[in-house]
Amino acid sequence: MSDIKQLRIRQPDDWHLHLRDGNVLEAVLPYTSAHFARAIIMPNLVPPVVTSADASAYRQRINRALPETDTFQPLMVLYLTEQTDPEDVRAGYANGDIVAAKLYPAGATTNSAAGVKNIEAVYPVLEVMQEIGMPLLVHGEVVDAEIDIFDREAVFIERTLSRVQARFSGLKIVMEHITTSDGVEFVKSCDRNVAATITPHHLVINRNAMLVGGIQPHYYCLPVAKRETHRLALVEAATSGDSRFFLGTDSAPHLDGAKESACGCAGIFNVSVTLSVLAHVFEAAGKLENLERFTSLNGAGFYGMAANEEMITLVKAGDELDVSEKLDVAGGKMTIFDPKFPLLWKVKA
Ligand code: DOR
Ligand code: ZN
Repeated sequence: MSDIKQLRIRQPDDWHLHLRDGNVLEAVLPYTSAHFARAIIMPNLVPPVVTSADASAYRQRINRALPETDTFQPLMVLYLTEQTDPEDVRAGYANGDIVAAKLYPAGATTNSAAGVKNIEAVYPVLEVMQEIGMPLLVHGEVVDAEIDIFDREAVFIERTLSRVQARFSGLKIVMEHITTSDGVEFVKSCDRNVAATITPHHLVINRNAMLVGGIQPHYYCLPVAKRETHRLALVEAATSGDSRFFLGTDSAPHLDGAKESACGCAGIFNVSVTLSVLAHVFEAAGKLENLERFTSLNGAGFYGMAANEEMITLVKAGDELDVSEKLDVAGGKMTIFDPKFPLLWKVKA
């Protein structure tokens, strides 16, 4: 570990975030806006955000839920369906209602039933996105029943993503929340217009966290954590400074009742500890000097946006951040991601 006890970085952005709606939105949003300047807002609501008018209305609900003095900026994403109108995408991107579109293979994850079954059905939309420079965000897992859940990312790359990338080589693609060395290698094998987000939890847990010593539902998310070799590949990519890898927390709030269940929901709430976890990971890798690239520079660069001017300070002190306290959310309790190591780095108020 280094002797560095303080680190000043540009204010971070979160390039993959679930805020939900209504009471849950109100409860979780302040944790994001306390640390992050901007976030890419996932559109898998019920019903999903499928038009740019839906995105604009959702952005207004988020802005209304923001603490008054807050300057946090939600960046809205369209949920692709086989009915998405390419001209709505063009117009929504031009007027700033949406900054990206998300491909959910139908059935891959939470509220993805309205997603895409046949990728070629959205080719006319991808054509327009390539033309206007709008990024495609991808949940990169196949849904075929015969494919083992631990192989679904690698098979998606092989069967779908490499095909889309070859067909639309000028399209900006973000492989969201990569969990495997296959994901890392795919991004590195492409030109500069393919990138990936990485979550804090996939940098610190492998599949044992979820399955050893009893089922641990608070470590269950999608794509599921893989074996240790994959985690190490993610740490290497995230801490390398390579501009194609950047932070997407994939913070995905579910009340404890929905997770501690015979059929528990996928998702981990982590935004309140994300920067503490990342500082620990980068410090342990001897790469603290690259933390700012991962949290605050690479993502903005890929999206063609300016980095934030504001700075934040991270301080390493003797006392630990307490993650045992559950959040009160919309009449229920919500567990905060516990990386199972002491969180000594904190964001200075
Ligand atoms: O763990 C996850 N939770 N992965 C996803 O892809 C969706 C998310 C959610 O919305 O709960
Ligand atoms: Zn997500």
